[in-house]
Amino acid sequence: MESVRSYLTGLECRACCTTVEADRPVGTCPTCGHTLFATYDLAGASSTFTRVGVQGRPGTLWRYRELLPVRTATNILTLGEGFTPILDLGELPSAPGVHCLLKDDGLMPTGSFKARGMAVAVSRARELGIARLFAPTAGNAGIALAAYAARGGLPATIYLPESAPEAVPRACRAYGAQVVAVPGTIREAGEEGRRREKGTGAFDMSTLREPYRVEGKKTMGFEIAEQLAGDAFPDAIVYPTGGGTGLVGMFKAFQELRTLGWVDRIPRLYAVQPDGCAPVVRALREEAPRVRAWEDPRTIAPGLAVPAPFASERILEAVRASGGGGTTVPDLAMVEAMELLAKGFGISTCPEGAAPAAALGPLLRARQIRAGETVLLYNTGSGAIWDVRGLRDALGAAGKVAR
Ligand SMILES: Cc1ncc(COP(=O)(O)O)c(C=O)c1O
Ligand SMILES: [Zn+2]
Repeated sequence: MESVRSYLTGLECRACCTTVEADRPVGTCPTCGHTLFATYDLAGASSTFTRVGVQGRPGTLWRYRELLPVRTATNILTLGEGFTPILDLGELPSAPGVHCLLKDDGLMPTGSFKARGMAVAVSRARELGIARLFAPTAGNAGIALAAYAARGGLPATIYLPESAPEAVPRACRAYGAQVVAVPGTIREAGEEGRRREKGTGAFDMSTLREPYRVEGKKTMGFEIAEQLAGDAFPDAIVYPTGGGTGLVGMFKAFQELRTLGWVDRIPRLYAVQPDGCAPVVRALREEAPRVRAWEDPRTIAPGLAVPAPFASERILEAVRASGGGGTTVPDLAMVEAMELLAKGFGISTCPEGAAPAAALGPLLRARQIRAGETVLLYNTGSGAIWDVRGLRDALGAAGKVAR
C-alpha cells in the first residue's frame, strides 16, 4: 500500500460553489454555511484505483485510500472497519419476486456503520492537528466517536438526548469519553453542544457540519460496487435515513465510481423513515426543495429521530438524481422485521437496521420497486444493545408508538 496515496485536492460547497483549501481545519462553508465536500484528482487516482488495483489490499475501508482524505498512512486510526459481508436473503415474504441482499454493518467495530465516518473523520482531524472533539448524537455516532478518539488519544465529549438507550452513555464512557445528557432530540443536543463548546477549541463533528464523516460513509458505496460487480450490482438500495450521511455518501461514491468507469449506473436510492419522524419522505412526497422540521418526533429508532436534517438539499438530491424515492414504516413493522431477520436469517439488527426490510412491502405496493429486481437492504447496526421483546411490549403499552 506504500505507493498508494490520497488524491484529495480541496473542499467545495455544492450550494454556492465556494472552494476551500483542505489542509487546515474547517467545518461548514465560510460563505453560506452549507456542507463542504471533499474533491479529488480522479484522473490521478485512476492509475491505481482500479478493481484489480484494490483487489489484494487489506479487507478494511482503507483499501480505498486514493479517494479518502487522510494524506499520511501513519495518521490512519483503524479498528479494522469496513468490507462487511453482503448476504443473499433470497425472497422475503413481504416482497415476492424481489431478490433481496443485505449488507451487514452490524458487524462493524462499535456495532454500526457510524464507525466508517468516524474512522475517517477522527483520523483526518488528528492529521490536521485538532486536539479535542465533540458531537451531538442519537447514540451510535457517539459510541464510534468515543472509540476512535480513544484510538487517537484525543478527548471527546458526546451530547446525547436523555432518551437514548442506557447502553449508549455506558459504552461512550467505557471508551473514556465525557457524556452530557440533554433533554429533547439530537437537535437540542446539537444546540447545547455548540453553545457549551464555543470558544473551547473543541471541533464540531456533527453530521454534515464537517467534511470528512461523509467520506467514510462513501465506502458503503465503494464496497457495494466492488462486492457486487457486473450483473450482481443492485437495482435499488433501501436505507434507513436520519441525518442523511449514508445516502449522501453512497451517492457521492457512485458518482466518483461512474467517472472512474467502475460502474455505468447508480442504483436507485430509497429513504426509509418511521411514521413518527419522516421529514425527508414528506419532502419527497411534497416535491419540496428542502425538508420542513418534523414536529414532535416519536419513534423507537433513535438514529431516525432527526426532525430537521442539516443538509436536506443534498439528501433529496441523492434520492431524486438516482431515480429513487422513499417510504415510511410504523415502529411495529421495524420490530417485526428485527424478529424476522434474527429468527429467520440469524441476522442481528437494531430498529433502524431492520427498517429497510420493513419497507419492502410498502415500496413494492407503491410500485417503487418491482418483482424481478435485486434490492440491497442496508443494515446499519447490530441489535446487541436492544431488547426486542421489551420494544414490542413498549409499543403495545403505548398503543402504537413509543418515544
Ligand atoms: C443505526 C443507524 N441507522 C441509521 C442512522 C441514520 O443515519 P444517516 O441518515 O445519517 O446515514 C443512524 C443515525 O444515527 C443510526 O444510528
Ligand atoms: Zn457555500
